Amino acid sequence: MKFLIANWKMNKNFDDGLKVIKAIRKKIKNKSNKKYIILPSLQSTLYIKNNIVKNDVIFGSQDCSQFKNGAFTGDISAEMIKKIGCKYVLIGHSERRTIFNETDEVLKTKMNRALEQKLKVIFCVGESLTQFKQGKSIPFIIKQITKAFDKSINFKNVIIAYEPIWAIGTNVTPKMQEIDNIHYKIKEAMKVHFNITKIPILYGGSVKSDNSADIFSLKNVDGGLIGGASLIASEFCKIYDTL
Ligand code: 13P
Repeated sequence: MKFLIANWKMNKNFDDGLKVIKAIRKKIKNKSNKKYIILPSLQSTLYIKNNIVKNDVIFGSQDCSQFKNGAFTGDISAEMIKKIGCKYVLIGHSERRTIFNETDEVLKTKMNRALEQKLKVIFCVGESLTQFKQGKSIPFIIKQITKAFDKSINFKNVIIAYEPIWAIGTNVTPKMQEIDNIHYKIKEAMKVHFNITKIPILYGGSVKSDNSADIFSLKNVDGGLIGGASLIASEFCKIYDTL
């Protein structure tokens, strides 16, 4: 199964979001071997879901609370996300890690909350430019993975997304060989540490319609996590066609 995930971040009001989704639905369809998933902001998700005729779009949330429920002002629980009709939750995006100081421990708790609700988790990992330049990408990413996961996790409900921080919104990507190698090393680490042989690994960071075919043709890449290019329906659909 291949995945294309649109992370809209804090962009698109509900009315604009609906227009984009309507345009996407006209052009592309989920298939048995590949699907697209949209992560709008949550109030848009509810509005969009209620305003599209057919319920054929898969939605996810960009985050969830580490807590189940209670006095946590501003937070949204995994249960609420599920109730809206989301099937996926993105956890550990580098913007959450760096801007909101989310630690490996917090992310692990969030992941457990999401999995308890039978939501599927897209777990993000990725190194900084300094780490990349120092050749430390792989040990850093493996540490992120081993700190967040343990053997009790139902890995059938987990997707990993590799997003080098320095490739996000920069129009720069690692070389194709570098992407494939890191994905390979992640798969290898999943085997060694958790005895998992099948787990989708998506690439994210400056994926556009002019580089997506090359990226998706890599042996160890199972799809993409798209930021900027997912805000434009025609561009997102073109990327989907290369998957
Ligand atoms: P860009 O596609 O804009 O580089 O963003 C990637 C990303 O952060 C998706 O989660």
